[in-house]
Amino acid sequence: MSRGALIVVEGLDKSGKTTQIKNCLQILRRDGFDVCQLSFPDRTTSIGQLISSFLRGETVLDDRVVHLLFSANRWEKWKEIKERLMAGTTILVDRYAYSGVAYTASKGYDWDWCLGPDKGLIAPDLVIYLSASSKVLETRSGYGQERYENQLFQNRVSETFEKLVTHKWLRISSDRPIEEVTHHMIPPIRNIIDSCQNGALPLGTLWT
Ligand code: TYD
Repeated sequence: MSRGALIVVEGLDKSGKTTQIKNCLQILRRDGFDVCQLSFPDRTTSIGQLISSFLRGETVLDDRVVHLLFSANRWEKWKEIKERLMAGTTILVDRYAYSGVAYTASKGYDWDWCLGPDKGLIAPDLVIYLSASSKVLETRSGYGQERYENQLFQNRVSETFEKLVTHKWLRISSDRPIEEVTHHMIPPIRNIIDSCQNGALPLGTLWT
């Protein structure tokens, strides 16, 4: 069955995910593709506002509660994601369950416990991981404004992400000019959209 593709972009804070998604959307739309963007956390919902307040350091919450809120924030978009994909729209997602696991497991929580809440979410057709050296990340504007944006924790998250990366992920270094990164992202994105349009890929679920 023909459908849109679910494409997730993951990476550390300030790795350029948001900029790259914006650029890719622009190019893909110009070329006539039906594409849209989602971001997690989605700060527009009431759960998202609570997460946002926690990230700004204004609300104190237990780490496990935060983990469940991040997951709930994805579940509240589950239906919309499914409907859009089935309507033929491709969705580029800025962070997904992999961030959820990487950030909470980096605080020392049990791996399986971290995976649990997102089990059953729609699996992405493609995950693009924007890697970046900590030296470059630190120099990017805004670094250090929110919780988690410090080098020590980001190094730990980076190591945890490595445990999640599979051979299916596309790893792209973002330690180079913005246009070059975009240039590397577009061909695999087009390929996966084609496969989903041709009905070659059934919808999968996490964590299979
Ligand atoms: P985001 O808004 O993507 O920040 P940035 O644009 O700086 O990358 O994400 C906010 C923070 O939330 C980021 O430090 C990663 C963290 N996070 C989690 O801890 N768990 C999650 O499930 C998600 C989606 C993000």
